[in-house]
Amino acid sequence: MSGHNDHSAHGTTEAPQAGGHGHDDHGAHGTMTLTLIVWRQPNADAPGRMETYIAKGITEHHSFLEMLDVVNEDLIHAGKEPIVFDHDCREGICGMCSQVINGVPHGGQERTTVCQLHMRKFKNGDTIYIEPWRAKAFPIVKDLIVDREGLEKIIQAGGYTSVHTGGVPDANVPPIPKPIAEYAMDAAECIGCGACVAACPNGSAMLFTAAKVAQLASLPQGQVEAPERVKAMLQALQDCGFGNCSNHYECQAACPKGVDVQFIAHLNREYVKALFK
Ligand code: SF4
Ligand code: FES
Repeated sequence: MSGHNDHSAHGTTEAPQAGGHGHDDHGAHGTMTLTLIVWRQPNADAPGRMETYIAKGITEHHSFLEMLDVVNEDLIHAGKEPIVFDHDCREGICGMCSQVINGVPHGGQERTTVCQLHMRKFKNGDTIYIEPWRAKAFPIVKDLIVDREGLEKIIQAGGYTSVHTGGVPDANVPPIPKPIAEYAMDAAECIGCGACVAACPNGSAMLFTAAKVAQLASLPQGQVEAPERVKAMLQALQDCGFGNCSNHYECQAACPKGVDVQFIAHLNREYVKALFK
C-alpha cells in the first residue's frame, strides 16, 4: 500500500527578512529574536522551498501561532505575502492547526497542539524549522496548509448509527458501565488533526481510523453497523492513499490527545470479526 511520507531535505533559501515592526529590539524587555525557516509554496502545483524570516519582539507569553501572527503583520506591513497556516479554535479542540516544528508534528511537547504551544518553550536566538504535514494523502494547498479531506472521507465511510437511544436514562442506572464509557471517551479524544499521519513513516491514518472505529464499536449504539463500518472505513483509508500500520508507534508519540495504539488492536479485532459475518 502506498502512503510514503516525503521527509527529504529541502534547500534553505535566504528570503527578505520580516520582523521588528513596532516591536522591541533583540532581547529588549525580555523579548526574543528568533530565526524561522518556513516552507513556502504558492499552490499545490508550484515548487516549494524553505525561506528564512527573523521574528522579533516575541515574548514567552505569545503562543506559537501568535508568534506567526506577529511575523505575518510585519510581512503585510512590508508588502509581502504572509505565511499561510491553518487554525481555528486555538484551544486544542478543532484539530485545524497542523505544523511540523523542528521535524516533529505539533512541536513534540506532550499532549500539546501547535495552537497550545507557547513561546516560553523556546529561547532567544533559537532557529525554528516550520513545515506542513508531509504525507502523500495530504497534498499541500498553500505554504503550511494541507488538504485533509481524506480524513473526512474515512469518517463519511463510517456512516451513521441507526439505533434509537431513547429518552434520558435514570441518573443512578447508567446503561453503559463506567470503564466502557471511559474507554469510548478516550477514543473520542481524537480531534482529527492528522499528526498521526504526518508522524508515520508510512503515512498511515490507522490511529485516527481506529479511534473512530473503537469509539463506536465499544458502545451499544455502534454495534448494529459495526461490521460494515470497519470494512468501509478501512477501504476509504486505502482509497485515499494512506499507508498501512507498520508498528512504528510514531502516531501515538505525536498525538496531541494521547490516543493509544491499543485502539489499532481493537480495530484489527473488529475487522477480523467483520470478515466472518
Ligand atoms: S489520533 Fe491523535 S494525532 Fe491522529 S488525528 Fe486523532 S488526535 Fe490527531
Ligand atoms: S487551532 Fe484548534 S486545535 Fe489548534
